[in-house]
Amino acid sequence: NGDLLLKNITAQSPFPICFDDLEKAVAEKMEAGPFGYIRSGAGGEQTLRNNRAAFEKYSIVPRFLNDVSNVDTSIKLFGKTYPTPFLFAPVGMNKMAHDDGELAVVRAAQQLKIPYIQSTVSSYGLEEVAQAAPTATKWFQLYWSTNEEIAYSMAARAESAGFEAIVLTVDTVMLGWREEDVRNQFSPLKLGYARGNYINDPVFMASLPDESFESYVQGVLQNVFHPTLNWENVRELKRRSNLPILLKGILHPEDAKLAIENGIDGIIVSNHGGRQLDGVVGSLDALPAIVKAVNGQIPIILDSGVYRGMDALKALSLGADAVAIGRPFVYGLALDGQHGVEKVMTNLYDELKVSIALAGATSLPALRNITLVKKDGVD
Ligand code: FNR
Repeated sequence: NGDLLLKNITAQSPFPICFDDLEKAVAEKMEAGPFGYIRSGAGGEQTLRNNRAAFEKYSIVPRFLNDVSNVDTSIKLFGKTYPTPFLFAPVGMNKMAHDDGELAVVRAAQQLKIPYIQSTVSSYGLEEVAQAAPTATKWFQLYWSTNEEIAYSMAARAESAGFEAIVLTVDTVMLGWREEDVRNQFSPLKLGYARGNYINDPVFMASLPDESFESYVQGVLQNVFHPTLNWENVRELKRRSNLPILLKGILHPEDAKLAIENGIDGIIVSNHGGRQLDGVVGSLDALPAIVKAVNGQIPIILDSGVYRGMDALKALSLGADAVAIGRPFVYGLALDGQHGVEKVMTNLYDELKVSIALAGATSLPALRNITLVKKDGVD
């Protein structure tokens, strides 16, 4: 318990220990197109920088001389208890990183008892993912569709395949201005990496003129961007589904309040890892006002820029109930499949656990009483 770090110091060559090391290792291994797609942010990447800067602004003022030999990191979400406060954020098209794609990630999720959120634009289908890890907690991230019946069909398939919640992403009604992809002339959608859920969807397939690759790609491009998405769609989705519905991409406290008024069961405070609108507030900077507005009525998950255990600690102490991880696990996947994903998540978890104890807390509720300052002392 006291030497979580030392297990990384072995005779073998080390697995990258932090986000920067991971990113460097993946940059050397992957081609520019897919690596740029995963790494980059939209526009001039101000949002990407804001995410990191928001975490770096806060400092902990630790307390000592409490017995911290037992740290409880468990959380409860929608009636189930999990040993860690982490989730896998929905990340599309995992075959870009590794042939096993989403199957490797969901197996890691099952092994570590971390909820897995599968993207609409996955390389493998919902049913295949469910089969690969039958006992993992799985949620389905829904991109609305221009043809609403496709959205309802996918949500219903998720429910029948044993997925336990729907995460409707609200910040991607069209693709962000991603300059790195233009530079690299790279579109994973056009290359067919997002096949999994579409080619297995009867409503989507019936909407195509024929079953050629070109028709499928055109069909995805026509449906995945859906600028008309509005609160009435959210209410209708809620009416048609028996699962808890979360909205992902909430940054304004008024939208958080509207989510509650519209019967939504949880929110993910996120700016899509800086990939959608550039110049957006860092997700951690958006958190306190949302925590205040939500006032404990529904769970709040935060993502975008959680690259260390310490980042998770800060988000949890500012009122998030859990945090979701994006790029770090994708890099782990690219380096070493399921094992790489497990290694990255275990390191995040071990760092979090050590940090909670060293800050003077022994549980996540107790973390909320830790002193955090935006400057360098206590008033
Ligand atoms: C994403 N993200 C994402 N979100 C979503 O709702 N559906 C999706 O299909 C995807 N796809 C996707 C692909 C890639 C390569 C990345 C990096 C991200 C966003 C993701 O869920 C999450 O919000 C961010 O990744 C969190 O930020 P960090 O942890 O990457 O900084």
